Amino acid sequence: MNVSVIGAGYVGLVSALGFCKMNNNVICVDKKIEKITKLNRGIPTLYEEGLEELLKECLQSRNIMFTDDIRIAVEKSDVIFITVGTPTLENWEVDLSQLNEVIREICKYIKSYKVIVNKSTVPVGTQKYIKQLLVDKGVNEENFDVVSNPEFLREGKAIYDFLNADRIVIGLDSERARKIMEKLYKPFNIEIIFTTPETAELIKYASNAFLATKISFINEVANLCDKVGADIEVISYAMGLDKRISPEFLKAGIGFGGSCFPKDTKALVKIAEKYGCNFKIVKSAIEVNNNQRILPVKILLNYYKKLEGKVITVLGLTFKPDTDDIREAPSLYIIRRLLDMKAVVKCYDPKASDEIKKIFPDINCYPNIYDSLEGSSCAIICTEWKEISSMNLEKAKLKMKEPIIIDGRNALDLNKVRDSGIIYFSIGRKRQNLKL
Ligand SMILES: NC(=O)c1ccc[n+]([C@@H]2O[C@H](COP(=O)([O-])OP(=O)(O)OC[C@H]3O[C@@H](n4cnc5c(N)ncnc54)[C@H](O)[C@@H]3O)[C@@H](O)[C@H]2O)c1
Repeated sequence: MNVSVIGAGYVGLVSALGFCKMNNNVICVDKKIEKITKLNRGIPTLYEEGLEELLKECLQSRNIMFTDDIRIAVEKSDVIFITVGTPTLENWEVDLSQLNEVIREICKYIKSYKVIVNKSTVPVGTQKYIKQLLVDKGVNEENFDVVSNPEFLREGKAIYDFLNADRIVIGLDSERARKIMEKLYKPFNIEIIFTTPETAELIKYASNAFLATKISFINEVANLCDKVGADIEVISYAMGLDKRISPEFLKAGIGFGGSCFPKDTKALVKIAEKYGCNFKIVKSAIEVNNNQRILPVKILLNYYKKLEGKVITVLGLTFKPDTDDIREAPSLYIIRRLLDMKAVVKCYDPKASDEIKKIFPDINCYPNIYDSLEGSSCAIICTEWKEISSMNLEKAKLKMKEPIIIDGRNALDLNKVRDSGIIYFSIGRKRQNLKL
């Protein structure tokens, strides 16, 4: 089929490559010309496992093109996917300005029937809103259907997830569009849930908010563990063996970040509010997370009382390993607090040094963990990158001025930590604070 994808970000680029791999002709559009130039040359614009290889494979097949010209995409495609960003506004509502811009552009070029599929995460009612926008702009109702097809991929495993999703959710109100979507997704051999647009839109928020709540729940249990001397890892393991609970998203730490959970939880609270519902449980999950992500700073303050002039190393900046995405990462909140308290911040991350410099131009990033620890009075682990969890603790200790590690991801092996003599704090794990 002829497919176009508008917005070549984490979701759009992976979707475009995924549809190409499944033997469709794909046009992928982004308004950032520098992205397009790189992609056409086979240079990845984001870090994702297997992306570079798949990009090259797709370019070689000649079944994909990258362009900033939305007109070509609209004219040459049967199905147009929208995968632009839907960030949060100050008041927790969803900013639909990127989506509005794309719809306005699409309107200019529709001359024949197209299925317009929204993959971005959007408030309930957006499919109806898009339909109305198209009609208001003078597009003939015969020439389009609008479909909601939320995406569930995980950054770090995005290509695998796109091709092997647990389910495909499609919300629509047209038989014609259903046949086309069925044909497009049939080769994926994944269960498809056809439903109404409103249900599809809410499935996405409900899923993300549920997972975020699960994380906040286990973090609260971990904080209790620290008080009562229980071990969160044994608790998570035992809970996870219960099939009704499952072991996923039961890892305690400094909370969730990224481009989805923080914004989608807020959006769900706001959507519920609009319809007179008070979504208390999600509000609490957000509040717990807001406290959890700055827990290392509280531990550090409790230890040193004052942080002015202290050199602190932040190990790991991305919101999780295997991505270069630092959007809403707990590390950002920690660094901001440390700088507010006049600490000197150094950092290490295998993929995100360039990104963090855009936000905090004055902090020093090092390409090597041990150099980043030189003269440091504490290391805070914010991301459980393999390079960080497997670091040589003896070597780290020798580099540091004061050998203190606050492990916000429970990434280090407790036996190794004990043997190293490092002063160590983690989240809800029993045998810790060994020197205190
Ligand atoms: N990142 C994830 O893991 C993930 C997972 C599932 C769903 N989602 C949802 O998918 C959507 C996209 O997320 P993302 O992380 O890929 O965003 P992103 O910011 O990485 O990518 C959005 C892209 O759209 C482009 N864009 C914006 N306006 C445009 C326009 N008018 N024309 C052409 N291109 C335009 C931007 O330049 C950017 O490259 C969001 O709604 C998000 O909530 C994201």
